[in-house]
Amino acid sequence: MAGACGMGPPRRCRALSCANGTEFATPNGELDYEFFKTTVQPIFLKERPGHARCYGCHIASGRVFHLATLSPGLSDWTEEQSRQNFQSSSQLVVPGKPQSSRLLLHPLAPEAGGDAFHSGGRQFASQEDPDWTALGQWVRSAASPSSHAARIYLTNSAGNTVDVIESSTNQVVQVIRGIELPHGVTFSPDGNRVYISNESESILDVVDRESAKIVKKVALSGHPNNLTITKGGGRVLVGIREDPGSVDVIETKSLERTKTISVDGSVHKIFVTPDGKYAVSGSIENKAATVIDLKTEKAAWEVKFDRGVRPMTFESNQDGSTRRIFVQLSGLNGFAVVDFASRKEVARIVLPEHPGVFGSAEERLGTPSHGIGVAPDGKSLWVNSTIANAVFKYSLPELQLVGYCPLPTQQPANHAAIGAVPEWITFTPDVNASTIRTRERDPYL
Ligand code: HEC
Repeated sequence: MAGACGMGPPRRCRALSCANGTEFATPNGELDYEFFKTTVQPIFLKERPGHARCYGCHIASGRVFHLATLSPGLSDWTEEQSRQNFQSSSQLVVPGKPQSSRLLLHPLAPEAGGDAFHSGGRQFASQEDPDWTALGQWVRSAASPSSHAARIYLTNSAGNTVDVIESSTNQVVQVIRGIELPHGVTFSPDGNRVYISNESESILDVVDRESAKIVKKVALSGHPNNLTITKGGGRVLVGIREDPGSVDVIETKSLERTKTISVDGSVHKIFVTPDGKYAVSGSIENKAATVIDLKTEKAAWEVKFDRGVRPMTFESNQDGSTRRIFVQLSGLNGFAVVDFASRKEVARIVLPEHPGVFGSAEERLGTPSHGIGVAPDGKSLWVNSTIANAVFKYSLPELQLVGYCPLPTQQPANHAAIGAVPEWITFTPDVNASTIRTRERDPYL
């Protein structure tokens, strides 16, 4: 579980999200054979304009980088040969580090950072060459979880920067600049791009994660709030905080806005269900949650409440489909439970007010509970409370209170201590049940 917004100097933040660094890393730091076979290996057979194929020279015996000779009549390697090629290629890379991998540096032009000389020529003129990028992806994906600790992207909503925090050291390791009033942040599944909604210009900023440079500004249909991305990363969905209410769809391949979906009321937040089939937008003004069918890109159904809709999170059935939505509401120190199948609110859970008594000095009683998340194993629900200055844990599916984590207080000069004002909650990609368990305390009942 990543920390709340009270880290370091008091600074109010709206979005706290983790780059899914390990989403593109195998858990044990091993190179991925399937990716090698389907994506990397074909590069060795491919003819690049003006060059002989890698295959042409590297089947010679005695080459360190040695490729198997194709069987007569076949245009691709057999399973056994692919395994041999995988072995040979693997010994020439440093898992997780393309920039230290001989397989990548030797055939790369020196001007592009490659080795000084390769008898087989400068096969890749630049690191942007798609084949070189694919090689890099294969190597990078083998980073061990420890060398790829999660980073936290903090949109400084009252400023014009996004801080990137290394979670293992709690240090700011990068700053994304040039985005005034950044609101929501999300990532491409491969972790190469960061998408940030920009309130001052009403655009979606597309940022290259490695260099922190803005690569494109996509104009939106109105003033944005939060955003999310569809499961395969094909579409970014941005909530538009303007009447009558809409969600912009930006295709990530073309980086063009392709559609504006009408929903009930100006949108504050937007989420995608874990099965990737629906998006759900929430409106504070219209007190509504609108469920959008992502196939048709149209509103399918909605739930109305008596209070503004704040953050939401989802519980899944065994088959992955959505079972319940947990919805935080304005002025409620708790959350509503919506049954997805019957499309109705079925319960409302109120949090304990202990251990702390906060929220009024901080002027946050309009959102006493903001930030809610189902743990990746689906077995618990974690809910922020500004009033209690704590995070409560409930078991799933029972919704029984299990315990809480107290949050730190802050001591502003000439004022009484204030709470941490937890506004968001997210889970680091390497979270597991034991790390959560060690932090929890007995419930205060
Ligand atoms: C024209 C023949 C030729 C082609 C084509 C060629 N290479 Fe080579 N490559 C060599 C020779 C000869 C060496 C050993 C001498 C040297 O290091 O330059 C070598 C060395 C290497 C090495 C260092 C390990 C070793 O076996 O010595 C790597 C890695 C490598 N090549 C990768 C590639 C890749 C990847 C391609 C295709 C994108 C490629 N080469 C295409 C001839 C070739």
